[in-house]
Amino acid sequence: MKDWQEGIGAELREILFTREAIQAKVLEMGEEIVRDYAERRVLMVGILNGCFPFMADLVRSMNTYLDVDFMSVSSYGGGTQSSGVVRILKDLNENITGRDVLLVEDIIDSGLTASYLLDNLNTRHPASVEICALLDKREARVEEVPVKYVGFDCPNEFVVGYGLDFQGLYRNLPHIGVLKKEVYTDP
Ligand code: PRP
Repeated sequence: MKDWQEGIGAELREILFTREAIQAKVLEMGEEIVRDYAERRVLMVGILNGCFPFMADLVRSMNTYLDVDFMSVSSYGGGTQSSGVVRILKDLNENITGRDVLLVEDIIDSGLTASYLLDNLNTRHPASVEICALLDKREARVEEVPVKYVGFDCPNEFVVGYGLDFQGLYRNLPHIGVLKKEVYTDP
């Protein structure tokens, strides 16, 4: 396989979080979650598409009984900024009444998606709902949202990799970095 310095990896201006740093952090997060939930059987809910590498690594760092489910949402408007009005493209398979739910996100940006999801899931009477995000872009926050587990604080930059995309691309990078400006601006 081509080295990540070549190919799509070469389109990054800078690597913010290496594969090794991410793996170490995810392990730590998984262990913390297992400790916190102790004997409770947590339902891990991944928010597609961005969550998939994080979710896969996170649950594999949790040596406990757990369930997984997924939701797919899209914000109305189609711009690069989320509008806060969220359309559910795929809902949960599981009934969450009385369950301990942990939402798994790659990134919390404006907070609008997570805030909508919290409200939506709370109407279903779960025992608890918490949020776990690998990246927290606090500077971009529009809506305050309680994020219980955070991997890394993320600068207010255009980040891709490890699930995060630009126009569908770069999700498969094993690290997270800042995209070169010329990739997303017209010449
Ligand atoms: C990303 C991310 C969150 C949301 C965060 O998803 O996975 O769901 O944006 O942004 P917010 O805090 O400003 O609402 P996106 O809509 O890009 O879809 P994707 O997961 O398929 O990439």
